[in-house]
Amino acid sequence: MAEEAWKVEPSGPLRGDIHVRGSKNAVTKHMVAAMLGEGESTIRNAPEVGDVEITGAMLEALGHTVERTGPDITVSPGAVTEPRVPRAFTGLNRIPILMVGPLLHLTGEAFVPLVGGDPIGRRPVDFHVDALRAMGAEVEVGDTGIAARASRLYGARIDLPYPSVGATETVLMTAVLAEGKTVLRGAAMEPEVVELALFLQRMGAHIELSPDRRIVIEGVDRLKGASTRLAGDRLEAFSYLVAGLITRGEVRVHGCAQDRLVTAITTLARMGARFEITDEWITASAPDGLRPAAVHTDTHPGYMTDWQQPLMVLFTQAEGMSVLHETVFENRLVYVPALKKMGCEIEVFNACLGGPACRFHDSNSVHSAVVRGVSKLTGADVTMPDVRAGFSAVLAASVADGTSTLRGVHHIERGYHRPAEQFASLGLKLETVAV
Ligand code: EPU
Repeated sequence: MAEEAWKVEPSGPLRGDIHVRGSKNAVTKHMVAAMLGEGESTIRNAPEVGDVEITGAMLEALGHTVERTGPDITVSPGAVTEPRVPRAFTGLNRIPILMVGPLLHLTGEAFVPLVGGDPIGRRPVDFHVDALRAMGAEVEVGDTGIAARASRLYGARIDLPYPSVGATETVLMTAVLAEGKTVLRGAAMEPEVVELALFLQRMGAHIELSPDRRIVIEGVDRLKGASTRLAGDRLEAFSYLVAGLITRGEVRVHGCAQDRLVTAITTLARMGARFEITDEWITASAPDGLRPAAVHTDTHPGYMTDWQQPLMVLFTQAEGMSVLHETVFENRLVYVPALKKMGCEIEVFNACLGGPACRFHDSNSVHSAVVRGVSKLTGADVTMPDVRAGFSAVLAASVADGTSTLRGVHHIERGYHRPAEQFASLGLKLETVAV
């Protein structure tokens, strides 16, 4: 079957308004949480992204009804839940592992195929499995997926070795209906995790967010359906602000509150970007050019790992040497070869450069980069390996001389709301072609 690629031509400064919807990394989790309600749940301001389609199809395969009306998604739990997520969903995204807890509550058993997602590290699920076991599930990790059983789940004391977003969400969605109290330490506190906790609270869950990454959940007997409006996607907002900056244009991003972008805004401002921030929109421009920076990625409220890829391309257009240290995923620089093919001057290292030594200090993981700017970029034929890297390839193509052919468009579409349309509205000369 012919795949789609994007042909991108040099287009000059990108300017215009972008309205971001709710985030890919919140919407899919809300859809899973909705399985637990006795009655329908509505998730508003949902983005049109591939991950929503995949998650909706999984829920339907389990016997639930998923309806989409414009930006609203309504999930109606079925009378009978099928305990097995079909193998056809193997490797498509990270969502199946989050379904184990809810399936155990609904049916006493669960099978989920191996999870996928972007090839950005080993991405094990051991924290999820350990937490489920601590709450009383028998879990078997096989070659094709994870099988679990539990006649009843119980509250437990769980300490996460690293504040994993997914594992925190597994604990939340399992502990809310477990018998007794769960105390989770070392929890992730990313805004998308808090958003999920608030949704579960609306459904009737008893959740306390305590200081020092501690979440206390007291299990209840039942949850009801709920309705919520998702907050704007901070990854998407950041990506489009950078699209304006890198092309010496100016993009005004609506729909993502400033408090979700604090570290990102300060990082860009240190590089010389000028911001105008209102309650409705945020805009950034760099009339005097950009300075280099040293940045390390971190858990919230640090500089998030999904903001790293657009920044890397921006570094190539700043005056001088910049340093990037990735500390969340050990293999998140896999996209650098594609950028180098387009003329980006980036050298990668397995040492911890910029910021404190991280967990990958004694490993061979290539997780630091030194970037020289200003690099002259040239159009190239490249394959985008993952969702965030895909966006950064578009950014590089937008300032390159000559035409670029970008393959693997489905990666971008899995995570960004109507990206071709959005880029075109900013003035990017982008054509979808079959390759
Ligand atoms: N980890 C383990 N064992 C586990 C779980 C995680 O060792 O059982 C490790 C991971 O290998 C990684 C670290 O813990 O080194 C953090 O992983 P985390 O579990 O926090 O990531 P995730 O839940 O798989 C989500 C987002 C990512 C985002 C990260 C960090 C979704 C679907 N994905 O992943 O988003 O980068 O949190 O904020 O919510 C993206 O949108 O492009 C994306 C990759």
